[in-house]
Amino acid sequence: MDLSLFRRVQSRCPACRAAGLAITNTQSEIISEGVFLCQSCGSQFPVLAGTPVLPPDPARWLTENLHLVMAQKIEDDATKALVGALLGPETYFNIIRQQQASYAYDHYGDGLTGFDAPTGTIRSILLDGLARLPSLPDGIALDLGCAVGRTTFDIATALKRPSIGIDLNWGLLAIAREVRDHNIVDIPLRRSGHHYERHRIKVDYPGAANVDFWISDAMALPIADDSIAFISAMNIVDCVPEPVRLLREIRRALTTGGRALIVTPLDWAAHATPPAQWVGGADALASLIEAEGLRITFRADVPWSLRLHDRALMQYSAAVYDCICA
Ligand SMILES: C[S@@+](CC[C@H](N)C(=O)[O-])C[C@H]1O[C@@H](n2cnc3c(N)ncnc32)[C@H](O)[C@@H]1O
Repeated sequence: MDLSLFRRVQSRCPACRAAGLAITNTQSEIISEGVFLCQSCGSQFPVLAGTPVLPPDPARWLTENLHLVMAQKIEDDATKALVGALLGPETYFNIIRQQQASYAYDHYGDGLTGFDAPTGTIRSILLDGLARLPSLPDGIALDLGCAVGRTTFDIATALKRPSIGIDLNWGLLAIAREVRDHNIVDIPLRRSGHHYERHRIKVDYPGAANVDFWISDAMALPIADDSIAFISAMNIVDCVPEPVRLLREIRRALTTGGRALIVTPLDWAAHATPPAQWVGGADALASLIEAEGLRITFRADVPWSLRLHDRALMQYSAAVYDCICA
């Protein structure tokens, strides 16, 4: 993690919400391990493999995810294939692998040789949204639910300012971090069943030095009020337990005149969002966005597709909202 980028954010403890998180045990600016301390409530947050882990309840996140952090260290393809086959399809190891395959292809598939470039990508939706942006106030950008991170690089490049990718999923963020740290995209392309084919692509994104990735909950961001110039929240509204809390957090973090790009296929699932919290359609979501204090300046429905394997492609119609924090 890059501490100089962290210092450009006015941090706030995700547990007690008081100002100021301090790193306790390093003199270096680029750190792979360390401990953040909240000087108000005493909560501590680890930095693991170069990634700060800043959810409101770090003990819970570690209990649920440390096995995935360790699993990421399995590098050899044959070993990975065996572990995946032994564990079976419904285990986190394989669920995350499928997610890595789908999102890595959607974000970085334009660099694969021998495969058709993906169409209807989240990148194309983002680039259209960035092209509609007027000039922004000062401040950094956040990419909420950034997954494997291509959009975070695009935002940093287009806006020429720091861009922090936020996600809770270690396996997806690990792909983003590999791009940030080594300019390598590691795509575990799923061909069928247990059969994954590893593709490694060398890339060079101009905005990369201005990018970092944090494990953090988009509903409890570790940053101060009124401090962010641009937030992208793409395909995350229907993935969180409380969509309204997410909208409130976007509003809280944006500075006056700041912009948000909210995109969602409204594809609710009970394992992510309790049905009582589902929002009944694009108009209902627009009303909630405005009720939380964001003014919508543009709306559209756009195609977005996600590859599952050689013979399966999910096709969505995503609702797009450009918003201003007035
Ligand atoms: C459907 S994926 C979309 C990923 C990416 N934005 C895209 O459109 O390609 C949703 C992402 O949001 C992340 N996510 C879900 N809940 C989150 C939360 N509370 N805080 C941060 N990220 C979250 C998931 O881990 C996942 O990477």
